[in-house]
Amino acid sequence: MSHRILLLPGDGIGPEVVKAGCYVLDHLATATNFDISYETGLIGGAAIDATGVPMPAQTLEAARRADAVLLGAVGGPQWHGLPGDKRPEAGLLALRAALGVFANLRPIRVRPQAVEQSPIKREIAEGSDILFVRELTGGLYFGDKGTEGDAAYDVCRYSRTEIERVVRLAADAATDRRGRLTLVDKANVMETSRLWRAVTEEIIAQHYKDLELEILLVDAATMHLLTRPRDFDVIVTENLFGDILTDEASVLTGSIGLIPSASLGTTGAGLYEPVHGSAPDIAGQGKANPIGMIESIAMMLESSLNRAPEGRLLRKAVGDALGETTTADLGGTASTMDMARAVTKALDKAFTTQ
Ligand code: NAD
Ligand code: IPM
Ligand code: MN
Repeated sequence: MSHRILLLPGDGIGPEVVKAGCYVLDHLATATNFDISYETGLIGGAAIDATGVPMPAQTLEAARRADAVLLGAVGGPQWHGLPGDKRPEAGLLALRAALGVFANLRPIRVRPQAVEQSPIKREIAEGSDILFVRELTGGLYFGDKGTEGDAAYDVCRYSRTEIERVVRLAADAATDRRGRLTLVDKANVMETSRLWRAVTEEIIAQHYKDLELEILLVDAATMHLLTRPRDFDVIVTENLFGDILTDEASVLTGSIGLIPSASLGTTGAGLYEPVHGSAPDIAGQGKANPIGMIESIAMMLESSLNRAPEGRLLRKAVGDALGETTTADLGGTASTMDMARAVTKALDKAFTTQ
């Protein structure tokens, strides 16, 4: 039986990293003997240009049929003038909501092979391994929003259920890792954050007695992340804070181009996308680092396709390739496809020494 994957390349460097990712995935599938069937759909600016809307109904139907969705990136300056609900980004938000993927897992790990590439001092960055669990379908992104004359508003709203399910997922992940969970909030100011804090403390006290819970205010958390990153294991936080903190934490690794993500719900297809955007400044130049996408594929193999061994193999190959090949974002000269080929080469090496 073949795995059904919906590809949504999107805009800017999105198609470039999707192409590189598929090159690696096809190689892995052939070598380890599994089948993949691809369907390709429109989203974001590419969908606006072709159909007038950022999330065509056809794309949503295809996503519901798929085992997993692989997304490049959406957005770009040519669509910036559009009203909020017609922008490329609205397409991505609609997809996340439709798939019910409330938990966005963003692992940020400084690899031994690439520690020199971090702009942060070695003694601080080395060994950092943080799993962010970002709430993805609630909060400011999805609250009531609008304009009133010269004013504008975005409402931040969270229900106990929305908080509970993502905190439990994060606590389970921490239990499987190093047993530490950090909640990041702004409970000194925000009512929603006070609810997050109360619900989290209750869940941990009742069901996860062995976990160590730390709670940080988001402003201070931005400093702690870059001064004592190794102290963190799993960090759970609301939608907007998670968006911002993960871009910040990507600096530990040297490039946002390295960071993958998996977005999961309780049922249905998972959504896999690198954390970076469409990078209009380098689009079309073959310079984009495809590792965030390739690692997203590793997460897809593990979480949606029931192929954990292949996912591990791929992740190991990425580490080996990073030790040998460097893209422009990390100070090297390798192109997007050079990097993809370095990963397949590392895979081949792993097969012959197995
Ligand atoms: P960005 O992540 O696209 O780029 C930020 C910087 O990082 C740029 O200098 C870019 O060149 C660099 N960069 C990003 N990915 C890289 C990669 N793989 N390899 C090498 N360098 C990389 O953020 P931005 O410029 O603020 O946003 C551009 C557009 O992307 C906006 O329209 C935004 O809404 C959209 N966006 C989309 C997603 C998504 O689709 N998931 C995520 C973030 C931003
Ligand atoms: C991300 C992006 C998106 C977000 C935008 C494009 C809607 O920044 O995936 O991190 O804010 O969630
Ligand atoms: Mn973001």
